Amino acid sequence: MNIIFLGPPGAGKGTQSKRLEERYGLVQISTGDMLRTEVARGSDIGKQAKSLMDAGRLVPDELIIAMLKSRIEQPDCVKGFILDGFPRTTGQAEALDTMLKADNKKIDVVLFLDVDEDILADRISGRFTCAQCGATYNEVSNPPKKEGECDACGSHEFKRRADDRRETVVERLKEYRKLTAPILPFYEKTGRLYKINGMLPAAEVTAQIEAVMAGQ
Ligand code: AP5
Ligand code: ZN
Repeated sequence: MNIIFLGPPGAGKGTQSKRLEERYGLVQISTGDMLRTEVARGSDIGKQAKSLMDAGRLVPDELIIAMLKSRIEQPDCVKGFILDGFPRTTGQAEALDTMLKADNKKIDVVLFLDVDEDILADRISGRFTCAQCGATYNEVSNPPKKEGECDACGSHEFKRRADDRRETVVERLKEYRKLTAPILPFYEKTGRLYKINGMLPAAEVTAQIEAVMAGQ
């Protein structure tokens, strides 16, 4: 089973795709996480991506398509994968289609997390993650059970993303509207697009997703 999560920045793609990964044994592939790893390593890809990411802009299609292609060719993707943050442009959606067809594969489900723009900036500015295991939290909606301690691994070290400042979030939303929202009709046509109300509490969002998965 191959799944795509679509939705604006802060819609909950990372949160929900990690839950789905655990539940169904699929591999979560976050192109944002992959790029942040490259930036931290100081690789060529990281150097090309850093200033664009810091400005809230998308990185070039050629770069991200090549990176994604080599990732989904890894043996751990044979059982299926969950794409979180890809595709993000019409060019990426078409390239994905072509690479899957060449391999006799397809996308089974596209989950669109629908969230009003006015709550996205608050969600993103309240986000922090565990520096040890990457678990995602939110100051308002999802704090750790014990203050200052990661629920998953017990670490006391947390971090925030460089692009989560409010000015950058405005740019990320502009990019979403201009380049990513137009790909929704592409998946609507395939009949595999499911609209999920992403404004409900995270557990209720998960329940809607599980209902879609149960129908597959
Ligand atoms: P990326 O890392 O993909 O960021 P994004 O799409 O902007 O999405 P986010 O990670 O900000 O949000 P999310 O939807 O995962 O929400 P989350 O679950 O964390 O991309 C970063 C950058 O990399 C891009 O700007 C671009 O430069 C580059 N890039 C990446 N992929 C690319 C591509 N394909 N092409 C070109 N460039 C690319 O939740 C957010 C917060 O809300 C958390 O605090 C969470 O706890 C909380 N929350 C989650 N669900 C709920 C809920 N239901 N109710 C209340 N709070 C909730
Ligand atoms: Zn942790």
